[in-house]
Amino acid sequence: MNSLGTLQPFVTPTVKLSRLFDFPDLEIFAKLDLLQLAGSTKERTANGLIEDLLGSGQLRIGGMIVESTSGNLGIALARQCVVRGINFTAVVDENANPLALELMEAYGAKVDLVQTPADGNKLAARRRRVSELLAEHPGSVTTNQYGSPANPRAHFDTTMPEIIAGTGGNLDYLFVATSTTGTLLGCQQYVQKHGLSTKIVAVDSVGSVLFGGTAGTRRLPGLGAGILPELASWTKPDLIFQVEEIDMVRGCRRLAHYEGILAGASTGAIVAAMGALLPSLDKGSRVAFMVHDSGVPYLQTVYNDDWVRTALNVEPE
Ligand SMILES: Cc1ncc(COP(=O)(O)O)c(C=O)c1O
Repeated sequence: MNSLGTLQPFVTPTVKLSRLFDFPDLEIFAKLDLLQLAGSTKERTANGLIEDLLGSGQLRIGGMIVESTSGNLGIALARQCVVRGINFTAVVDENANPLALELMEAYGAKVDLVQTPADGNKLAARRRRVSELLAEHPGSVTTNQYGSPANPRAHFDTTMPEIIAGTGGNLDYLFVATSTTGTLLGCQQYVQKHGLSTKIVAVDSVGSVLFGGTAGTRRLPGLGAGILPELASWTKPDLIFQVEEIDMVRGCRRLAHYEGILAGASTGAIVAAMGALLPSLDKGSRVAFMVHDSGVPYLQTVYNDDWVRTALNVEPE
C-alpha cells in the first residue's frame, strides 16, 4: 500500500510485449508511465521538483509556483499542487494545446496567457511574464525543470530502479524520449552509479537542437527542444535517433494496433527508433522503452487522418 496516497508517483507496470515487432529472439518491455495520475512521466518530475523546493525551504505549503509550461509538466504540477495545497500559475502562449490548458484548469491551476510580442519571440515573452509574477508574489518560486538536478534525480530514484526491477535486472537497451533530458540523465546516472551494461538510446525529434543541428518546425509536443536545456550538457547517450513526425505517427499507430497501447507522439518516435535498431541487435537482447504519456491528448493530431494529410502532407496508411 502507498501511504502517501495520490501524492507519490505510482510504480507503473513494466510489461513484456510480443506483438509489436516480429523479432522472436529479442525480449521487449514497455514501462507504462501513461498510467501515472497526471498521464505522463512528468508526474515523477513534478513531484521531485516540488519536494526539492519544499525541502530547501524555498517553497511552503500555501505558497505559489509559477512556471512557463503548456505541456505535461504543467498538468503534473497542477495535479501535485492541488493535492498539496500549493497555488500554481502556468504561463503559456498562443501555441499551447487547449486540452492541456483545460486539464490544468480542471486541477485548479491559473492559466496566464501571454500575447505574442511584436518581435514574435514567445519564449522571451513568457520568461518576462514569469519574472513579473514572481516579483508580484513574494515567496513564489519557479521550478527550473531545464536545469534543476531534482529533475534527473526523480528518474535516478524511481524510473530506472523500477525498470531494472521490472525487467529482472538484466537489460541491454533502454529507449527514452528527450525534452529537458531529465529522464535520460537520471537513467544514465543510475546505470553509471551501479556499473550496469545497459545502453541508453536517446530519441529526439527532427528540428530539435538537443544533440546538435538547427531548430526547425516541430508540431507535436513532448519531444525535442528549440534551445539547449542546461541538463543536456551532462547527457552521454550511447545512441541517438532523430525521428520525423510522420514516423512518430506511424510508431504510435503501430503500438495502438499491435499492442492496444494508446500513447503520445514521443513514444511513437521511440517505436520508430526501435524499428530501425532492433534488426541489428544480437539474439537474446533485452530491450525496454518508456511509454511516456497517453495518446488521448493526441486524438486530434497523431490519430486523426485529416490532420496527418493537412499538417504533414502525407496520406495515412
Ligand atoms: C510525452 C513525453 N515525452 C518525453 C518525456 C521526457 O522528457 P524529459 O526529457 O523532459 O524528461 C516526457 C517526460 O515526462 C514526456 O511526458
